[in-house]
Amino acid sequence: MTVYSAQESRYNEMKYRRCGRSGIKLPEISLGLWHNFGGVDTYDNGESIILRAFDRGVTHFDLANNYGPPPGSAETTFGRVMERHLRPYRDEIIVSTKAGYGMWSGPYGDWGSRKYLVSSLDQSLKRMGLEYVDIFYHHRPDPETPLEETMGALDHIVRSGRALYAGISNYGAEDTKKAVRILRELGTPCLIHQARYSMLAREPEKGLLDVLGTEGVGGIWFSPLAQGLLTGRYLDGSVPEGSRASRGVFLKSDRLTPALIAKLNALNAVAAERGETLARLAIKWLLRDSRTASVLLGASSVAQLDENLLALDGPPLQAGELDRIEGILRMPE
Ligand SMILES: NC(=O)c1ccc[n+]([C@@H]2O[C@H](COP(=O)([O-])OP(=O)(O)OC[C@H]3O[C@@H](n4cnc5c(N)ncnc54)[C@H](OP(=O)(O)O)[C@@H]3O)[C@@H](O)[C@H]2O)c1
Repeated sequence: MTVYSAQESRYNEMKYRRCGRSGIKLPEISLGLWHNFGGVDTYDNGESIILRAFDRGVTHFDLANNYGPPPGSAETTFGRVMERHLRPYRDEIIVSTKAGYGMWSGPYGDWGSRKYLVSSLDQSLKRMGLEYVDIFYHHRPDPETPLEETMGALDHIVRSGRALYAGISNYGAEDTKKAVRILRELGTPCLIHQARYSMLAREPEKGLLDVLGTEGVGGIWFSPLAQGLLTGRYLDGSVPEGSRASRGVFLKSDRLTPALIAKLNALNAVAAERGETLARLAIKWLLRDSRTASVLLGASSVAQLDENLLALDGPPLQAGELDRIEGILRMPE
């Protein structure tokens, strides 16, 4: 096994943003391990992507108990990379994981009970070979468990040393307000909210962004490239072999309507005029908002990651360009 030594230059180009009103800064681009790092995927490819990311200043890696497939295997992969290569750099890395979706059978392996959250994180730590994670999230709101219990579990998890910070994911604006208040009263502030946000999914603009700004909670955006739609991958309307849409589970090819393809091409034209790719434009568009702490990308190859990291270069989007993009986003899909 070749001994990995991180690039000396790894902090030269990445920019870091403060996460809400906290002491933590996150890289403008973070890497998520939802796809491409499971037991069904090639370990070496996953390892290369993770190490390349770290070499380029991506200090934040995002996981969840159920990432794989099979569930849990992305954490196992990440643990292997940590053990083999990144152990000496643990203090330079922010690892997050989550619980909230179905993980094991029976009544204690899903949703938001204290029983589920604490035991799930113990399992995650074992899989990753870590003593603690930096951020632990409740993955989705639970309509049946009292919010006080779920937030109490996050507070307990932080106080017990299993996690340094608490976060929530997929909570709507009103539930976020309540959760943030409870956590603050407990003395464990909510660090971060992880939500779906991209040029094609703008739900956070309907209240959540304002809550995050007011409450001093950082926003980290998942599926910022709409799972690949906001890249060059589907611009000609066909589905490339091996792409996420070709697998058809989380991204279905029937999403590729002529209207959507026209919209993507119009956005791509704006990017091309800037000498950039659509993926870079999509990332820059998210970085335009000060409530954005980090853009949480996925990648199935080092080449994709490298292309996406170019979003950090060049000027930010100007007012005229943002207006033009807004007009395109109003086009029907
Ligand atoms: N909290 C939650 O509920 C939740 C939900 C979903 C995701 N997440 C987090 O967010 C992370 C990112 O989500 P995501 O993977 O959906 O993000 P994404 O960045 O929108 O999509 C990533 C996918 O797009 C394609 N892609 C990326 N860059 C490309 C490029 N330059 N050219 C062509 N194709 C490119 C690749 O797919 P192919 O190459 O396979 O086509 C890649 O796997 C996840 O890993 C996870 O950590 C959280």
